[in-house]
Amino acid sequence: MRSKIVAGNWKMNKNLTETETLLAALSAKLPDTEAEVMVAPTYINLTSAVRHLESSPIEVIAQNMHFAESGAYTGEISADMLLNVGIDTVIIGHSERRAYFGETDEILAKKVTAALAKGLRVMFCFGEELEDRKSENHFSVVQSQLKNALFSVDANSWSKIILAYEPVWAIGTGETASPEQAQEMHAFIRKTITEAYDTSIANNVSILYGGSVKPANAVEIFSKPDVDGGLIGGAALNADDFVAIIKAI
Ligand code: PGA
Repeated sequence: MRSKIVAGNWKMNKNLTETETLLAALSAKLPDTEAEVMVAPTYINLTSAVRHLESSPIEVIAQNMHFAESGAYTGEISADMLLNVGIDTVIIGHSERRAYFGETDEILAKKVTAALAKGLRVMFCFGEELEDRKSENHFSVVQSQLKNALFSVDANSWSKIILAYEPVWAIGTGETASPEQAQEMHAFIRKTITEAYDTSIANNVSILYGGSVKPANAVEIFSKPDVDGGLIGGAALNADDFVAIIKAI
């Protein structure tokens, strides 16, 4: 059985004080849920967030990491550093990393391999741009993102993978994929994984939808059979909104 997951990607928002305030509000308001709830604060607040949530079911995850073990990579952070402060899961391949920081499929494949080798869980993000959808290339774009960065992973490692389909045109734009568009793509992703691996891997991997999920649209999106939760940006920065989205699942 695959898990339901609601994850908040805080991006470059919330300083330490604000992080602690938001975490306190989330802990206080967290509803009873079978879903895994995760938050991804910025690097420098990970340690404090982990401590703050020590007795909470909310998991702290990282937004990114470098593929190298250690060394002369100014400004970067390694898998070991994440593990050492109590992080078990890392987001890899977010569209903002691809668009603004030049992360190619090749780089992402190295990151995925390095993270899994260290025992981290990987939340792998991918999704097409607006032109791809307009030209009806969205399925082939998604397929090649998966093939190029993920499908060299061995079958046993799939228990450590979470997928987040995030159409770039829906991220931070207020525009959401319709529940039908999300379902159609998620079903396609499972079919692609079945072809590359097998049905059991395809059926057991959680596939989250991301892109302008809000309290107002979460119930409908999460009601689709192949949508196992959401990766939430903007709405995760407000405790009431994030809690409403958790309730929606
Ligand atoms: P958004 O961001 O919810 O603000 O669209 C989603 C994401 O980037 O993960």
